[in-house]
Amino acid sequence: MANLAAIREYDVEEIVEPEPPVDEALKLDRGEISSAWRAHDSYVRKAVGKETPESCEFDRTRVHVGRPIDPELADRLLALIHACESEPLMNGDFAPGFQTWEPSPEMLAELNRGSSLRVFNAKSSWAIQDALDAMRDEVAAALGTPWKIIGVKAWTTKPKAEARGMYAWHSDGFVPEIFKILLYLTPMSLQNGYVEVRVDGRTKRLKSSRGGVWALLDPTSVTHRGVPGTERERMLVEITICRSAAFDLRARYTGQNSFYPSFPWTEATGCSNLELQRIVEWSKSTLGTDSAEGRVVNFLRFRVAEFLCSLAKVLTPLAKRFPAALNMVSLLDAAGTGIWNRAKSIELGWAGLTAS
Ligand SMILES: [Fe+2]
Repeated sequence: MANLAAIREYDVEEIVEPEPPVDEALKLDRGEISSAWRAHDSYVRKAVGKETPESCEFDRTRVHVGRPIDPELADRLLALIHACESEPLMNGDFAPGFQTWEPSPEMLAELNRGSSLRVFNAKSSWAIQDALDAMRDEVAAALGTPWKIIGVKAWTTKPKAEARGMYAWHSDGFVPEIFKILLYLTPMSLQNGYVEVRVDGRTKRLKSSRGGVWALLDPTSVTHRGVPGTERERMLVEITICRSAAFDLRARYTGQNSFYPSFPWTEATGCSNLELQRIVEWSKSTLGTDSAEGRVVNFLRFRVAEFLCSLAKVLTPLAKRFPAALNMVSLLDAAGTGIWNRAKSIELGWAGLTAS
């Protein structure tokens, strides 16, 4: 683990106080999924794991405070995420095959009053990717293996938000093979808010004068809480990860109420159940319904798309000889791909409708 005292940009304050009561509301019934994750993690460690001083320390404390990311990148990310639209936390907004939880309507209303979840756009996703690249090797040293992304979320916490849910002392109740990187884009201060974790029977409070500080932790074994600021918003990017035989740092968005896949081999579909439902509604309104007529229309869409793409392929040698034809070939290919994607979305929507 990096020497905490040697890094000047943040400070860890240790507070001796009695064990805090843990909010039981977030605990999940893990059932049979835990053995699959244990086997996956142990396989990866045996296959590609390297023991390092950092990984030994992380195995013991289950927390690693990272070297802050570049201040310019932190500020850029903060501005980009601020510009993203907000979306409320809703039950059902999770990817198929993922674990979730169902807060009561009162709890949901309270969490939505205190936090504003963001929907990433292309620019913010790009900047998040830069931050992930910057953290890659340090996280790998702490885990002792390469790692991969399970899901990325970002939100702001309003000052004086209610100390419930993630703002009360809690364990995420995942399996201990799932880790989180918490990247704070606002300074960690009394005014902006900060984070506290329990390690070795003591509370560690992370403080910093600027944004860009991050910590890797096992959110299941380590009791923790986010502390809202007294005056200003706190902004956080939360990256859920696991060990992996090879690096896969593509940012994935699996729904605001998505935790982690029930099994290590489940890949996110790229859209949540709610999004699938929206596709179903959209396909109903444009096509009527999942009827025989609708299926014929969609079948024709696929065939037209294939025809346009094949035509583009056949004409490609022509485009090489006559550069003026290049635009036409690109247009045919783009039109074919667009129609194919649309037909595929409708098909996925029907699959979601059948499954629900
Ligand atoms: Fe948490």
